[in-house]
Amino acid sequence: MLAMNFRGPFRIRADRNRPEPEIKHPYDAIVRVTRSLICGSDLHLYHGLVPDTRVGMTFGHEFTGVVVEVGSGVQKLKVGDHVLVPFNIACGTCPFCKQELYGNCHEANPEATAVGGFFGYAHTGGGYDGGQAEYVRVPYADVSPTVIPQGMDIEDAVLLTDVVPTGYQAAEQGGIQPGDTVVVFGAGPVGIMAARCAWFFGAGRVIIIDHLDYRLEFAKQYSYCEAYNFREMDDPVLFLKKATDWYGADVCIDAVGCDATGSTLQNILGKQLLMEAGNATALHWAINSVKKGGIVSIIGVYGPPWNLVPLGSLMNKGITMRGNQASVKRLLPKMIDHVMSGRLNPKGIISHRFPLEEIGDAYHMFSTKRDNIIKPLLIPPRANVA
Ligand SMILES: NC(=O)c1ccc[n+]([C@@H]2O[C@H](COP(=O)([O-])OP(=O)(O)OC[C@H]3O[C@@H](n4cnc5c(N)ncnc54)[C@H](O)[C@@H]3O)[C@@H](O)[C@H]2O)c1
Ligand SMILES: [Zn+2]
Ligand SMILES: [Zn+2]
Repeated sequence: MLAMNFRGPFRIRADRNRPEPEIKHPYDAIVRVTRSLICGSDLHLYHGLVPDTRVGMTFGHEFTGVVVEVGSGVQKLKVGDHVLVPFNIACGTCPFCKQELYGNCHEANPEATAVGGFFGYAHTGGGYDGGQAEYVRVPYADVSPTVIPQGMDIEDAVLLTDVVPTGYQAAEQGGIQPGDTVVVFGAGPVGIMAARCAWFFGAGRVIIIDHLDYRLEFAKQYSYCEAYNFREMDDPVLFLKKATDWYGADVCIDAVGCDATGSTLQNILGKQLLMEAGNATALHWAINSVKKGGIVSIIGVYGPPWNLVPLGSLMNKGITMRGNQASVKRLLPKMIDHVMSGRLNPKGIISHRFPLEEIGDAYHMFSTKRDNIIKPLLIPPRANVA
């Protein structure tokens, strides 16, 4: 089959001779992919920042597809179902799944204790091949995959596998109270969705910070928020203090994660020498620009090893920090309702559509932020076969 093939940092191609996945366990299903997306999280893999990313792996954790085969233990999914597949691989029965912490399943990932399993996310994520391919093996098929509701556009459905619930959870973790000022760092798909969802919780003011003007312009329109370029500021923390009567924001959301830019020291330590788990500049700014007693929500991804973050500010300001991988299955019913009722239009953030064959170009463009790219969609060759 045709599938993405990781050859090493910054080297990705589509290969035609990849082996088709097979059922390995009674709870598996095989899905023929109809759409998939590239995520900011895939860029951490592409840039070589995620440990144990093995040559030959297929990435992709945001996809929809048609079920073509099910294992003997699968009861709910049927051959022919068109499903959206949440990025978390979760067993559904362990103590963490029981608490709806589907991003922290204790069974799905033998390689890690912090996170559960993910499609296409290195061996750190469990070693499962992902959906930037024609076919994918979906473990625990009865747990998370969800039949696409009738009438829902497939391009909306594919965004429900990650970006929409993730943006929503970023806002939810912020504990936003009516009237709160919310600052979102990062105007990528996740930050844009977090800013948009902050209004659902009653935010009074939403500000987004990035250094890419085209994304800031997009966020202003899509998320109805204020948008500022940190390259035009002497100090983003000072700017945000000034903008909030010197109190600081009620809630800060880090929607950037370990691939941040904005600090030479952090770039050298975290991204060139790999002496910390990536570049924690956005988290720095979030902690330092939230008010005393405020909440910092971390949705941008960091690895478990240490990071240079201002713990003293956290302690002395009485800040609460919350973070997690999004629990997609927990949030899906609410997100489906938002989309079907027209309150959210996820596909509005898809800026580029590539045939799967051109995945190398898609990664390059998304990584270098060329051509005003926001969110790239991949279409496999037989995507529209009934
Ligand atoms: N927790 C989860 O479940 C989950 C799910 C999906 C994605 N993520 C993470 O969310 C983050 C964002 O994903 P995305 O798809 O939007 O990625 P993206 O790469 O498209 O966007 C990141 C944005 O951050 C901006 N940025 C860089 N440094 C910054 C700084 N110092 N301050 C403000 N903005 C800065 C970039 O210019 C870019 O626009 C990534 O870390 C990704 O791994 C987390
Ligand atoms: Zn993703
Ligand atoms: Zn579990």
